[in-house]
Amino acid sequence: MKPFADTAIALWTRPREGINWLPRNLQARLLLTYVTLMLLGVGSLIAWTGERLAVQTIEQAEHDLELHAQIIANALREPLDYSDEERGLGRSLAALIGSYAQNIGGRVTVVDTQLKLVETSDARVPVHVEDDHPEFVAARAGSEQHNIRWDEWVQEERLFVAAPVLGERGQPMGYVQLSISMLPLYAAMAQTWMTIIGVGLVVLVITVFASIVLARHIAVPVEWLTATSEQIAAGHLERRVVPAGPNEIRRLGLAFNRMAERVQDMLAQQREFVDNAAHELRSPLTSIRLRIEMLQEHGENNHELTRRYLGQMGREVDYLQRLVDHLLTLASVEGHAPALQSLDLSGVLFATADEVELVAQQSGLAFHADLPDHLPRVRANPEQISIVVRNLLDNACKYTHRGGAVALSARAIGTSVEICVTDTGMGIPGAALPRIFERFYRVDPARSRVSAQPSGGGAGLGLSLVRAIVERHGGRIDVQSREGQGSAFIVRLPIESV
Ligand SMILES: Nc1ncnc2c1ncn2[C@@H]1O[C@H](COP(=O)(O)OP(=O)(O)OP(=O)(O)O)[C@@H](O)[C@H]1O
Ligand SMILES: [Mg+2]
Repeated sequence: MKPFADTAIALWTRPREGINWLPRNLQARLLLTYVTLMLLGVGSLIAWTGERLAVQTIEQAEHDLELHAQIIANALREPLDYSDEERGLGRSLAALIGSYAQNIGGRVTVVDTQLKLVETSDARVPVHVEDDHPEFVAARAGSEQHNIRWDEWVQEERLFVAAPVLGERGQPMGYVQLSISMLPLYAAMAQTWMTIIGVGLVVLVITVFASIVLARHIAVPVEWLTATSEQIAAGHLERRVVPAGPNEIRRLGLAFNRMAERVQDMLAQQREFVDNAAHELRSPLTSIRLRIEMLQEHGENNHELTRRYLGQMGREVDYLQRLVDHLLTLASVEGHAPALQSLDLSGVLFATADEVELVAQQSGLAFHADLPDHLPRVRANPEQISIVVRNLLDNACKYTHRGGAVALSARAIGTSVEICVTDTGMGIPGAALPRIFERFYRVDPARSRVSAQPSGGGAGLGLSLVRAIVERHGGRIDVQSREGQGSAFIVRLPIESV
């Protein structure tokens, strides 16, 4: 099922290369779509309305004519009774249908039961026998039927209806036929069509204008976004878009600005990082080069100088080694997520404490480890946790004077495992506390107990590395410190949920 869904989505989202005739420009495409849809909508509405109105016009005319036919048929009962015998009344029949014809604006014709013409209001119609036209067939059958046909006497299309003239006992005495020219009806229908099409055109023009505005409302912010992306790609990192358009595009603009801001910040940080790293590498390298030059000139005969310079150069190389190690670890920690495993941290902590204990003793410090045999499991990378603890202990030893104490403890508190590194050292000034986790930040290199060394003890990378690792593990690090009294660094890592 899934492969099928994937294929369907791929087909749907694949760029349609086949539709070459569509305009490439988004605004033109939107406009074309709106106008096409509008043409279809308005066109079908016009066609349907026009057709309905035309049908209604004819039906209304038919209905009116049928009504008149009924009335005239009723009125003609008596005149028809006497028409054959009394010529006077015959004339009155002609006058009567003449006036009715004038009334309806058409022709009134009376035929006898054999459908032979008796009287007509139109002099152009000769005496003749009506064929079996539908209106007479219906009238004979007692129903009503209209018929539109070509009238040979006046050479035009006309609408015909017929009604029987019934005698006293309901017997047919003849039939009355009414007809009107279709020309006025066609003219009225044409007028209606013109009006509807006119209204449709006005609606269409308004729609086209509205579509242009709507298409611009969507397309222009997208064009801005594209132009700004191109400018940023060309190196103008400070460019931003003005969020505009519909909500979705406005949000896209805001997100784009945030992204651009972040990229700019990251690049600035990276540049600063490279500058700092170059600076940190340059001074020990310069110092090594100067000492090599001195040794080349005076080293041969001066063993004391050679011994001293070699010792200093060794420490510079150690420093460079640690700096490069930190930089590489930092790059790998920030580059990709560490491989985490379910871990009881007590093992890692005991091993690190063993490593540091000797160093602390050599530095004249009392070292105390308060670690339980087991801790709740956390998701962690053992090498990286070891780097965290080693760096914190390294700092504690480095920034505590001889005779001081350094301690490592761990315990489970709530949903976290808490690792605590404390010292009775020189502490950190309040103003510096918020900055100590920044890369290359050192409170004051001269403060370091080992600052007698050429490079002042550290590069200021250890704590930024510690924080990067702790955050990658979903934890956090806090520091409490008092100048002259000591510091406590507390790392909290979330206990693995089962
Ligand atoms: N336990 C501590 N006591 C007093 N100051 C400390 C302590 N830990 C860190 N600091 C201060 O914070 C600064 C930053 O520490 P960080 O570990 O990042 O750098 P570093 O120790 O100077 O160099 P690196 O660790 O790269 O060798 C240090 O320079 C130091 O001034
Ligand atoms: Mg350090």
